[in-house]
Amino acid sequence: MVELVAVADLDPKALEKAAREFRVPNTFSDYRPMLEEKLDLVDICVPNHLHAKVAIDAINHGANVLVEKPLAISADEAERVVRTAQAQNVMICEAKQWRYVPALRKSHESFTKGKMGKLVSILAQWHSEIPLTWSHAQWYYDPAKSGGGIVSDIGIHLVDLLLLYGGPVGRVSASGGDYLGTMGFDTSVQALLEFSKGGSGLLDVSWLAPHSKFLQIVGTSGIAEVDMHYYSRTHWNYARSPFSDLKEAIGTIGRTSRRVMNKDFFNPLPRLFQALINDYAEAIINHLPSPIPGEMSVRALRVKEAIYKSLSEKRTVNL
Ligand SMILES: NC(=O)c1ccc[n+]([C@@H]2O[C@H](COP(=O)([O-])OP(=O)(O)OC[C@H]3O[C@@H](n4cnc5c(N)ncnc54)[C@H](O)[C@@H]3O)[C@@H](O)[C@H]2O)c1
Repeated sequence: MVELVAVADLDPKALEKAAREFRVPNTFSDYRPMLEEKLDLVDICVPNHLHAKVAIDAINHGANVLVEKPLAISADEAERVVRTAQAQNVMICEAKQWRYVPALRKSHESFTKGKMGKLVSILAQWHSEIPLTWSHAQWYYDPAKSGGGIVSDIGIHLVDLLLLYGGPVGRVSASGGDYLGTMGFDTSVQALLEFSKGGSGLLDVSWLAPHSKFLQIVGTSGIAEVDMHYYSRTHWNYARSPFSDLKEAIGTIGRTSRRVMNKDFFNPLPRLFQALINDYAEAIINHLPSPIPGEMSVRALRVKEAIYKSLSEKRTVNL
């Protein structure tokens, strides 16, 4: 069991709200004295450019850290966090909760068991609203604080999933960027990743196109389509036929109805975070490997940086 014992925020209103909502007994306007409380785990949810500093401070106080994505705004900074955690013998985990979408876990399990054959390609698409529409935070629009636009914000989740299936990336070629030319950061990007072990991944992220969030994983003996938006497995394609499509459609109706009934359909995010936090807490207690190791976060950030380099230099970038 995890007990929430303290919360820190510079903003008194945000601090009071978090303490009230989550019934946290101890509050701090500065996170540093909070770290003296000998905490087992610190969950870091400050703006991106502060992740590495706060994480390293917490690690140096002997705490395990769960860091909101991205682990840091650059791969080098993230590597410093990883090295500090190794030196202090604590565990780090980045909040990549999309890995816990049930349909995605199922497809990944089948993939790693070899049921889908050899990887051919993965399409990872996420189109959503720009944070302007749901947050007053200004740091999102300053690349020095956010680490970039859409590739840094939601692209990093998909890069993590692409690496999960495809492994290390050898080359990156990207197009798009500040699509309307008015924002000063990337709002719509497509990037082709060539995996070192074979196969390729297409990252397609946009804050301008209509809503879409899915992964299509193509193997030599199967295709999995994962609807990340409603968290349903849309189909497995081992031997596709009108009958199997109908069976899948009926299954989707059943799963969606259950999600509407238990309200998961309207706000499924808390369940994903809950699953991630449970896994992480269990790893800490039982000395298991981190569910999302820091090395994986560093690798994803190197890919993010290669995408940005490819965009600015208009060429293919080797990693
Ligand atoms: N995993 C996900 O899907 C997901 C979704 C949304 C946001 N995020 C990440 O969560 C983090 C926070 O995003 P947000 O939208 O809540 O930002 P926000 O700006 O709304 O909230 C950040 C909070 O941190 C506080 N803060 C800033 N500096 C601080 C400091 N030095 N000490 C203590 N508190 C400090 C601010 O007062 C504010 O309350 C970001 O890293 C973002 O990328 C992740």
